Amino acid sequence: MTPLLSARALTKQYGGRNGCRNVSFDLYPGEVLCIVGESGSGKSTLLNTLALRMSADAGTLHYASAHGGMDDRLDLLALSEPRKRLLMRTEWGFVQQNPRDGLRNGVSAGANIGEPLMAVGARHYGKIRDTATQWMSRVELDASRIDELPSAFSGGMQQRLQIARNLVTGPRLVFMDEPTAGLDVSVQARLLDLLRTLTSTLHLSVLIVTHDIGVARLLAHRLMVMQGGEVVEAGLTDQVLDDPQHPYTQTLVSSVLPV
Ligand SMILES: Nc1ncnc2c1ncn2[C@@H]1O[C@H](COP(=O)(O)OP(=O)(O)OP(=O)(O)O)[C@@H](O)[C@H]1O
Ligand SMILES: [Mg+2]
Repeated sequence: MTPLLSARALTKQYGGRNGCRNVSFDLYPGEVLCIVGESGSGKSTLLNTLALRMSADAGTLHYASAHGGMDDRLDLLALSEPRKRLLMRTEWGFVQQNPRDGLRNGVSAGANIGEPLMAVGARHYGKIRDTATQWMSRVELDASRIDELPSAFSGGMQQRLQIARNLVTGPRLVFMDEPTAGLDVSVQARLLDLLRTLTSTLHLSVLIVTHDIGVARLLAHRLMVMQGGEVVEAGLTDQVLDDPQHPYTQTLVSSVLPV
């Protein structure tokens, strides 16, 4: 199987400081890959570099686009701005930790879901509204609240709205930075359930950042463990968590094992 996304020796620095360094991995279609590590380990830097929201300093990044053309592997680091934006609009999603950063807060819930559809060419108002209504239900929001502003929804509901906004166009690859952080534990559990259902039914490829091993265990097929900007261990979720090899992973796992 061809990887959807391939990173080799990807590096991003802030001045002299390490953001992330020398990261290599392949992400396959339908796979959920978690990036775990403590605060400051470089998770967000890596995610943003992969999602082309930050420019890499070194390394390579290739993507098997649905519309690949002659060479079906896109060299992402050489992509023009317009093509980058097209890719983000048509094939990728990005779910922010804080839903306020990923929603348009001045327009209704329905418009938040409908806008990305219009951005990929949908024009029929009734159909857009129908789709928005369906997606409200799909993320377990009360569809009768479609005309309310995001601010009228709770934090967990806003996060589900952000997820609907990101999935409505049928992306192939979704980036998520700590999507369940900052939510109550019970709300987190429900959101995790929803994410698990959506990723498997939609056969999504997902790169998800979390410092929460529990989130990783529940969602991820594979893990990458980061420390000080580098990946210190990677592998199948169960293998890494049940039999961690690197001392840092051992500490990370033993500090959060359920009693
Ligand atoms: N804009 C920036 N300018 C300078 N240094 C930065 C910037 N963003 C991050 N860093 C540094 O890069 C390193 C990695 O930060 P990053 O935000 O990627 O970590 P993280 O694993 O996402 O942490 P957290 O779990 O707290 O979100 C840290 O040393 C951080 O101080
Ligand atoms: Mg972060």
